[in-house]
Amino acid sequence: MDSIAKSTKEFESLFGKKTEHTFFSPGRVNLIGEHTDYNGGHVFPCAISLGTYGLVSKRTDQKIRMYSANFKEIGIIEFDLAALRYEEKHNWVNYPKGVIDTFSKHGFTITSGFDLFVYGTLPNGAGLSSSASLEVLMAVILNELFQFKIDMIEMVKMCQQTENQFIGMNCGIMDQFAVGMGKENCAIMLDCNTLKFRYSKIAMDGYKIVIGNTNKRRGLSDSKYNERRAECERALKDLQVKRAIGSLGELTEAEFEASKAVIEHAVDVKRARHAVYENQRTLNAVKALEENDLKQFGKLMNDSHVSLRDLYEVTGLELDTLAELAWEQKGVIGSRMTGAGFGGCTVSIVAEQDVDAFIENITPVYTKKIGYAPSFYVASIVNGTGKLK
Ligand code: GLA
Repeated sequence: MDSIAKSTKEFESLFGKKTEHTFFSPGRVNLIGEHTDYNGGHVFPCAISLGTYGLVSKRTDQKIRMYSANFKEIGIIEFDLAALRYEEKHNWVNYPKGVIDTFSKHGFTITSGFDLFVYGTLPNGAGLSSSASLEVLMAVILNELFQFKIDMIEMVKMCQQTENQFIGMNCGIMDQFAVGMGKENCAIMLDCNTLKFRYSKIAMDGYKIVIGNTNKRRGLSDSKYNERRAECERALKDLQVKRAIGSLGELTEAEFEASKAVIEHAVDVKRARHAVYENQRTLNAVKALEENDLKQFGKLMNDSHVSLRDLYEVTGLELDTLAELAWEQKGVIGSRMTGAGFGGCTVSIVAEQDVDAFIENITPVYTKKIGYAPSFYVASIVNGTGKLK
């Protein structure tokens, strides 16, 4: 029995009725453009086939019941539509609950409760956007159940707002955008300043996108993330004394070098330098890929990792080990950390015939050095969140 059929059965035995609709929401992997989104720069992510399934049925009362097959020990969480507060003990449910709250605050009134069964294939907290996957899933379900007819970009923004205000993670727009707007076999070239975007076909004939999970628990990543963001904002403030700019993404490398002396703290100079150079690197990388210069694209991926390691300081031993081991392997075009960092995953482009050896060679060396094994997934690029049936 496939996982949807199994979930449909479980839904019925848990909630005592049939599933009305089934949805799928992908995760995402960012190919290049890291920690640029909240700095008004460019990102280049794609939606992946690992993600979150949601099965749902409307209720006639005001109760919402949610269950996740990934958190069986938590069981069914039940709350009332009138009680949309963040509650620690509600764990993963706070994400969809937050989306309901954001919808209500935007005037999209949810008139009745529902039962929701969730089943995820993304590793949790591994930097592949399991939370954005869940948020956009909830948004698309609400849009369908209550016929709001909200367009995807509006929903993406409301999901980011949920993460910022309800959850307290000051993330940019990239994850929710990639999850909601993903397109099969394409990465999204997104200008996070204007939200202008275009799809860029990923036709890397003979190559695969391999995701390497460090399996490191992310721990304090949210507070570190918010700290990096604050450092960039402080650098921008200093720069604004000299230049009329609204974000770091507006600067070229030369403009940054000419102005950086006004940035007060040395650490902020490092952070801002990464943001500016990574943004330019992303523009160059997408150009290289579109000109079929895969080698140059890979080189820029490696440079991105080095900058995240040395200037932004968000990698750590596990991500560095995984990326550096990848650089040594046959058939590897490029490898870098992806997502927020501090653990989580790398993304590598590897020749199809070398993928098995890549995994076999890296696994024992990483395991010996770090003390536990990494995991690998070969990604396929899929469409954004939608209804399956
Ligand atoms: C996390 C955030 C994104 C982005 C990345 C880093 O995934 O949610 O908004 O900032 O980190 O590029």
